[in-house]
Amino acid sequence: MGTGAGFGKVILFNEHFVVYGLPAIVSAIGKKTTALVEKKSGFGTEINDCRPETPGYKVEKSREQKESLEQMIKFMNIDIQHYHFRITLGGDLIAASGVGASAASCAAIARAFSDELSLNYADEQVNRAAFEGEKGYHGTPSGIDNTAATYGGLIWYKRDEASPVMDRMRLARPVEIVMGNTGIVADTKIVVAGVRERKEREAEKYAQIFKSATELVQQARKQLVAMDMPKLGISMDKNHELLQQIGVSNDELDALVSIARDNGALGAKMTGTGRGGYIVALTPGMELQERVAVEIERKGFQALRTTI
Ligand code: MEV
Repeated sequence: MGTGAGFGKVILFNEHFVVYGLPAIVSAIGKKTTALVEKKSGFGTEINDCRPETPGYKVEKSREQKESLEQMIKFMNIDIQHYHFRITLGGDLIAASGVGASAASCAAIARAFSDELSLNYADEQVNRAAFEGEKGYHGTPSGIDNTAATYGGLIWYKRDEASPVMDRMRLARPVEIVMGNTGIVADTKIVVAGVRERKEREAEKYAQIFKSATELVQQARKQLVAMDMPKLGISMDKNHELLQQIGVSNDELDALVSIARDNGALGAKMTGTGRGGYIVALTPGMELQERVAVEIERKGFQALRTTI
Protein backbone atom coordinates (compact mmCIF):
# COMPACT_ATOMS: atom_id res chain seq x y z
CA MET A 1 0.00 0.00 0.00
CA GLY A 2 1.40 3.43 -0.98
CA THR A 3 0.32 6.83 0.28
CA GLY A 4 0.78 10.43 -0.82
CA ALA A 5 -0.69 13.91 -0.46
CA GLY A 6 -1.06 17.14 -2.43
CA PHE A 7 -1.86 20.67 -1.21
CA GLY A 8 -4.91 22.71 -2.10
CA LYS A 9 -4.10 26.19 -3.37
CA VAL A 10 -5.30 29.74 -3.68
CA ILE A 11 -4.19 31.94 -6.57
CA LEU A 12 -3.67 35.40 -5.11
CA PHE A 13 -2.80 37.15 -8.38
CA ASN A 14 -3.13 36.59 -12.11
CA GLU A 15 -4.97 33.36 -12.78
CA HIS A 16 -5.68 33.19 -16.52
CA PHE A 17 -2.96 35.77 -17.25
CA VAL A 18 -0.49 33.09 -16.13
CA VAL A 19 -1.58 30.91 -19.07
CA TYR A 20 0.04 33.53 -21.37
CA GLY A 21 3.33 33.71 -19.48
CA LEU A 22 2.55 36.59 -17.12
CA PRO A 23 3.79 36.12 -13.56
CA ALA A 24 1.31 34.98 -10.92
CA ILE A 25 1.32 34.45 -7.16
CA VAL A 26 -0.09 31.29 -5.62
CA SER A 27 -0.17 29.92 -2.09
CA ALA A 28 -0.86 26.46 -0.76
CA ILE A 29 -3.63 26.35 1.83
CA GLY A 30 -3.77 24.21 4.93
CA LYS A 31 -5.98 21.59 3.31
CA LYS A 32 -4.82 18.49 1.46
CA THR A 33 -5.97 15.65 -0.71
CA THR A 34 -4.56 12.26 0.20
CA ALA A 35 -4.21 9.19 -2.01
CA LEU A 36 -3.75 5.56 -1.14
CA VAL A 37 -2.68 3.12 -3.85
CA GLU A 38 -3.15 -0.64 -3.43
CA LYS A 39 -1.67 -3.11 -5.90
CA LYS A 40 -3.90 -6.13 -6.52
CA SER A 41 -4.05 -9.00 -8.95
CA GLY A 42 -5.88 -8.41 -12.23
CA PHE A 43 -5.44 -5.44 -14.52
CA GLY A 44 -6.52 -1.80 -14.90
CA THR A 45 -7.33 0.82 -12.29
CA GLU A 46 -10.26 1.91 -10.14
CA ILE A 47 -10.80 5.12 -8.20
CA ASN A 48 -12.60 5.19 -4.89
CA ASP A 49 -13.18 8.90 -4.43
CA CYS A 50 -13.92 9.66 -0.77
CA ARG A 51 -13.06 13.38 -0.86
CA PRO A 52 -15.61 15.81 0.58
CA GLU A 53 -17.13 17.74 -2.33
CA THR A 54 -19.21 20.62 -3.57
CA PRO A 55 -22.36 18.77 -4.68
CA GLY A 56 -22.06 17.63 -8.28
CA TYR A 57 -18.30 18.17 -8.60
CA LYS A 58 -17.27 14.52 -8.77
CA VAL A 59 -19.91 13.53 -11.30
CA GLU A 60 -19.11 16.58 -13.43
CA LYS A 61 -15.38 15.77 -13.37
CA SER A 62 -15.54 11.98 -13.60
CA ARG A 63 -14.66 11.77 -17.30
CA GLU A 64 -11.77 14.22 -16.89
CA GLN A 65 -10.59 12.35 -13.79
CA LYS A 66 -10.40 9.14 -15.82
CA GLU A 67 -8.55 10.88 -18.64
CA SER A 68 -6.15 12.47 -16.14
CA LEU A 69 -5.36 9.14 -14.50
CA GLU A 70 -4.71 7.53 -17.88
CA GLN A 71 -2.25 10.31 -18.78
CA MET A 72 -0.43 9.90 -15.47
CA ILE A 73 -0.28 6.09 -15.71
CA LYS A 74 1.23 6.44 -19.18
CA PHE A 75 3.71 9.12 -18.09
CA MET A 76 4.81 7.17 -15.00
CA ASN A 77 5.05 3.99 -17.04
CA ILE A 78 2.88 1.97 -14.65
CA ASP A 79 2.10 -1.60 -15.66
CA ILE A 80 -1.69 -1.90 -15.63
CA GLN A 81 -1.69 -4.92 -17.97
CA HIS A 82 -0.44 -7.27 -15.25
CA TYR A 83 -1.62 -5.51 -12.10
CA HIS A 84 -4.75 -3.82 -10.85
CA PHE A 85 -4.45 -0.61 -8.83
CA ARG A 86 -7.12 0.62 -6.48
CA ILE A 87 -6.75 4.34 -5.73
CA THR A 88 -8.59 5.83 -2.76
CA LEU A 89 -8.78 9.61 -2.51
CA GLY A 90 -9.47 11.40 0.77
CA GLY A 91 -8.24 14.29 2.89
CA ASP A 92 -9.79 17.55 4.08
CA LEU A 93 -9.63 19.56 0.85
CA ILE A 94 -13.12 19.99 -0.56
CA ALA A 95 -13.26 18.78 -4.15
CA ALA A 96 -14.51 22.01 -5.74
CA SER A 97 -13.53 24.51 -8.41
CA GLY A 98 -10.99 27.17 -7.43
CA VAL A 99 -9.01 25.40 -4.71
CA GLY A 100 -6.73 23.28 -6.89
CA ALA A 101 -8.64 20.07 -6.22
CA SER A 102 -7.60 18.38 -9.46
CA ALA A 103 -3.92 19.28 -9.05
CA ALA A 104 -3.88 18.22 -5.39
CA SER A 105 -5.30 14.83 -6.36
CA CYS A 106 -2.76 14.44 -9.18
CA ALA A 107 0.19 15.20 -6.87
CA ALA A 108 -1.23 12.86 -4.22
CA ILE A 109 -1.69 10.04 -6.76
CA ALA A 110 1.84 10.48 -8.17
CA ARG A 111 3.29 10.30 -4.66
CA ALA A 112 1.21 7.28 -3.71
CA PHE A 113 2.32 5.35 -6.83
CA SER A 114 5.91 6.32 -6.16
CA ASP A 115 5.55 5.02 -2.61
CA GLU A 116 3.77 1.78 -3.60
CA LEU A 117 6.19 0.93 -6.42
CA SER A 118 9.36 2.30 -4.75
CA LEU A 119 9.95 4.76 -7.61
CA ASN A 120 11.60 7.25 -5.24
CA TYR A 121 10.15 10.27 -6.98
CA ALA A 122 11.66 13.59 -5.96
CA ASP A 123 9.27 16.58 -5.85
CA GLU A 124 10.33 17.53 -9.36
CA GLN A 125 9.12 14.18 -10.73
CA VAL A 126 5.91 14.35 -8.73
CA ASN A 127 5.34 17.83 -10.19
CA ARG A 128 5.94 16.61 -13.75
CA ALA A 129 3.57 13.67 -13.33
CA ALA A 130 0.93 15.94 -11.76
CA PHE A 131 1.33 18.35 -14.69
CA GLU A 132 0.57 15.47 -17.09
CA GLY A 133 -2.47 14.61 -14.97
CA GLU A 134 -3.62 18.23 -15.05
CA LYS A 135 -3.79 18.03 -18.85
CA GLY A 136 -6.72 15.65 -18.44
CA TYR A 137 -8.63 18.43 -16.65
CA HIS A 138 -7.32 21.65 -18.23
CA GLY A 139 -6.11 20.67 -21.68
CA THR A 140 -3.25 23.21 -21.60
CA PRO A 141 -2.52 23.97 -17.96
CA SER A 142 -0.06 26.72 -17.08
CA GLY A 143 1.48 24.46 -14.43
CA ILE A 144 0.74 26.81 -11.52
CA ASP A 145 -1.74 24.50 -9.79
CA ASN A 146 0.41 21.36 -9.85
CA THR A 147 3.42 23.41 -8.70
CA ALA A 148 1.51 24.67 -5.64
CA ALA A 149 0.02 21.21 -5.02
CA THR A 150 3.46 19.59 -5.08
CA TYR A 151 5.70 22.06 -3.29
CA GLY A 152 3.33 23.97 -0.98
CA GLY A 153 4.19 27.40 0.43
CA LEU A 154 3.90 30.77 -1.28
CA ILE A 155 5.18 30.85 -4.84
CA TRP A 156 5.89 33.42 -7.55
CA TYR A 157 5.25 31.46 -10.74
CA LYS A 158 5.86 32.20 -14.39
CA ARG A 159 5.05 29.77 -17.15
CA ASP A 160 7.82 28.93 -19.57
CA GLU A 161 7.71 25.86 -21.81
CA ALA A 162 11.40 25.10 -21.31
CA SER A 163 11.75 25.89 -17.62
CA PRO A 164 9.02 27.57 -15.61
CA VAL A 165 10.12 30.09 -12.98
CA MET A 166 9.23 29.11 -9.44
CA ASP A 167 10.45 31.50 -6.73
CA ARG A 168 9.63 30.72 -3.17
CA MET A 169 8.37 33.73 -1.23
CA ARG A 170 8.40 33.91 2.54
CA LEU A 171 6.14 35.98 4.75
CA ALA A 172 7.13 37.34 8.16
CA ARG A 173 4.07 35.57 9.61
CA PRO A 174 1.04 33.69 8.30
CA VAL A 175 -1.84 35.91 7.15
CA GLU A 176 -5.49 34.94 7.64
CA ILE A 177 -7.70 34.70 4.57
CA VAL A 178 -11.25 33.56 3.95
CA MET A 179 -12.26 31.65 0.86
CA GLY A 180 -15.93 31.77 -0.08
CA ASN A 181 -17.45 29.02 -2.21
CA THR A 182 -20.15 29.86 -4.79
CA GLY A 183 -20.99 26.15 -4.92
CA ILE A 184 -20.84 26.33 -8.72
CA VAL A 185 -18.66 23.80 -10.54
CA ALA A 186 -16.67 25.46 -13.32
CA ASP A 187 -15.18 23.92 -16.43
CA THR A 188 -11.60 25.17 -16.71
CA LYS A 189 -11.19 24.08 -20.34
CA ILE A 190 -14.23 26.12 -21.42
CA VAL A 191 -13.40 29.21 -19.35
CA VAL A 192 -9.76 29.25 -20.53
CA ALA A 193 -10.88 28.78 -24.16
CA GLY A 194 -13.32 31.70 -23.78
CA VAL A 195 -10.51 34.02 -22.69
CA ARG A 196 -8.41 32.93 -25.67
CA GLU A 197 -11.23 33.57 -28.09
CA ARG A 198 -11.99 37.05 -26.71
CA LYS A 199 -8.29 37.92 -26.53
CA GLU A 200 -7.91 37.17 -30.23
CA ARG A 201 -11.05 39.09 -31.11
CA GLU A 202 -10.24 42.16 -28.99
CA ALA A 203 -6.46 42.19 -29.21
CA GLU A 204 -5.93 45.85 -28.36
CA LYS A 205 -8.19 45.89 -25.32
CA TYR A 206 -6.61 42.70 -24.01
CA ALA A 207 -3.07 44.02 -24.53
CA GLN A 208 -3.90 46.94 -22.19
CA ILE A 209 -5.43 44.63 -19.58
CA PHE A 210 -2.43 42.28 -19.75
CA LYS A 211 -0.06 45.22 -19.30
CA SER A 212 -1.95 46.28 -16.16
CA ALA A 213 -1.88 42.70 -14.84
CA THR A 214 1.90 42.55 -15.28
CA GLU A 215 2.45 45.80 -13.40
CA LEU A 216 -0.01 44.84 -10.69
CA VAL A 217 1.56 41.49 -9.82
CA GLN A 218 4.98 43.10 -9.55
CA GLN A 219 3.64 45.63 -7.05
CA ALA A 220 1.79 42.89 -5.19
CA ARG A 221 4.98 40.91 -4.74
CA LYS A 222 6.64 43.87 -3.01
CA GLN A 223 3.55 44.50 -0.88
CA LEU A 224 3.47 40.87 0.24
CA VAL A 225 7.14 40.82 1.19
CA ALA A 226 6.74 44.15 3.04
CA MET A 227 3.58 42.75 4.73
CA ASP A 228 1.76 45.91 3.60
CA MET A 229 -1.71 44.41 3.94
CA PRO A 230 -3.81 47.52 3.15
CA LYS A 231 -1.99 48.03 -0.17
CA LEU A 232 -2.07 44.30 -0.91
CA GLY A 233 -5.84 44.32 -0.40
CA ILE A 234 -6.22 47.18 -2.88
CA SER A 235 -4.12 45.22 -5.38
CA MET A 236 -6.39 42.20 -4.95
CA ASP A 237 -9.43 44.39 -5.66
CA LYS A 238 -7.71 45.65 -8.82
CA ASN A 239 -6.87 42.11 -9.89
CA HIS A 240 -10.53 41.19 -9.52
CA GLU A 241 -11.43 44.12 -11.80
CA LEU A 242 -9.00 42.88 -14.46
CA LEU A 243 -10.48 39.39 -14.20
CA GLN A 244 -13.96 40.88 -14.61
CA GLN A 245 -12.72 42.67 -17.73
CA ILE A 246 -11.57 39.41 -19.31
CA GLY A 247 -14.98 37.91 -18.57
CA VAL A 248 -14.19 35.20 -16.02
CA SER A 249 -16.12 36.44 -12.99
CA ASN A 250 -19.88 36.04 -12.54
CA ASP A 251 -22.68 37.41 -10.36
CA GLU A 252 -22.13 34.94 -7.52
CA LEU A 253 -18.39 35.67 -7.35
CA ASP A 254 -19.02 39.42 -7.47
CA ALA A 255 -21.62 39.08 -4.70
CA LEU A 256 -19.19 37.14 -2.49
CA VAL A 257 -16.47 39.72 -3.15
CA SER A 258 -18.89 42.49 -2.06
CA ILE A 259 -19.90 40.62 1.11
CA ALA A 260 -16.23 40.24 2.04
CA ARG A 261 -15.38 43.90 1.37
CA ASP A 262 -18.51 45.22 3.11
CA ASN A 263 -17.51 43.31 6.22
CA GLY A 264 -14.02 44.70 6.46
CA ALA A 265 -11.85 42.50 4.23
CA LEU A 266 -8.87 44.55 3.06
CA GLY A 267 -9.38 43.21 -0.44
CA ALA A 268 -11.16 40.40 -2.25
CA LYS A 269 -11.11 38.73 -5.63
CA MET A 270 -12.22 35.62 -7.43
CA THR A 271 -9.61 32.89 -7.45
CA GLY A 272 -8.80 30.12 -9.91
CA THR A 273 -10.85 29.42 -13.01
CA GLY A 274 -13.77 31.68 -12.13
CA ARG A 275 -17.37 31.50 -13.45
CA GLY A 276 -17.97 29.64 -10.20
CA GLY A 277 -15.66 28.18 -7.60
CA TYR A 278 -14.17 30.42 -4.91
CA ILE A 279 -13.28 33.98 -3.95
CA VAL A 280 -10.40 34.86 -1.63
CA ALA A 281 -10.63 37.69 0.90
CA LEU A 282 -7.67 39.22 2.72
CA THR A 283 -8.60 39.23 6.42
CA PRO A 284 -5.50 39.58 8.62
CA GLY A 285 -6.22 38.72 12.26
CA MET A 286 -8.59 36.05 13.48
CA GLU A 287 -11.29 38.51 14.47
CA LEU A 288 -11.63 39.98 10.98
CA GLN A 289 -11.35 36.51 9.44
CA GLU A 290 -14.20 35.25 11.61
CA ARG A 291 -16.40 38.29 10.89
CA VAL A 292 -16.06 37.87 7.13
CA ALA A 293 -16.45 34.07 7.24
CA VAL A 294 -19.58 34.24 9.42
CA GLU A 295 -21.19 36.80 7.11
CA ILE A 296 -20.44 34.65 4.04
CA GLU A 297 -22.06 31.70 5.81
CA ARG A 298 -25.03 33.80 6.91
CA LYS A 299 -25.67 34.58 3.25
CA GLY A 300 -25.82 30.86 2.53
CA PHE A 301 -22.33 30.19 1.13
CA GLN A 302 -19.58 27.96 2.46
CA ALA A 303 -16.55 29.72 3.99
CA LEU A 304 -13.09 28.29 4.39
CA ARG A 305 -10.86 29.89 7.05
CA THR A 306 -7.18 29.44 6.34
CA THR A 307 -3.85 31.27 6.06
CA ILE A 308 -1.27 32.03 3.39
C1 MEV B 1 -6.84 27.53 -12.69
O1 MEV B 1 -6.65 27.21 -11.32
C2 MEV B 1 -5.85 28.56 -13.11
C3 MEV B 1 -5.95 29.02 -14.58
O2 MEV B 1 -5.06 30.11 -14.70
C4 MEV B 1 -5.59 27.92 -15.54
C5 MEV B 1 -4.11 27.56 -15.53
O3 MEV B 1 -3.29 28.32 -15.03
O4 MEV B 1 -3.79 26.51 -16.10
C6 MEV B 1 -7.35 29.52 -14.90
